[in-house]
Amino acid sequence: MKDILRLRTSLSEEIESALNEQIKREAHASATYLAMASWCDRHGFEGSAGYFYEQAEEERRHMLKIFKYVSDLGGNAVSPEVANVQQEWDNFRSVFEQALENEIAVTQAINRIVGKCHQVQDFTTVTFLQWFLNEQIEEEFVARRALELFDVIGEEGVGTFTIDKQIPKIKYEGDATE
Ligand code: FEO
Repeated sequence: MKDILRLRTSLSEEIESALNEQIKREAHASATYLAMASWCDRHGFEGSAGYFYEQAEEERRHMLKIFKYVSDLGGNAVSPEVANVQQEWDNFRSVFEQALENEIAVTQAINRIVGKCHQVQDFTTVTFLQWFLNEQIEEEFVARRALELFDVIGEEGVGTFTIDKQIPKIKYEGDATE
């Protein structure tokens, strides 16, 4: 039965499974951003909460994009279970440190999948994943810029209030996703 199913897709089992892992990662990223939005809301950082809500939506879109790709190619897209979502952070800054760390981990994960695709000569998936690598340039930039605001503005006095106001204004001006 399994072999017959294999005939219906050009995706190798290894790549299909790697893409399903990435679906999970994107779903986990979405859930984590939602938890970050909640943390920011609870601590009075409204601008940052809005920013994280948007990020959560974006990660869900990423998840769906891969899900659809696997499905469109005749593979088995697995609806992801999301577990162990961090809900608490020590302070405002550590939320953004975590966000940047997570984005870097996502970039590395996608690069590993692209590496595997080259090994099995799945250039269709390499082309598909190029969009994600471009997207990660922007996502890392924005997360890094957000963290830099803590050093540039400082957290003393009205510092965190000012940082919170600036977070939603961060824009990526590069052309990576054009
Ligand atoms: Fe979809 Fe920011 O990783």
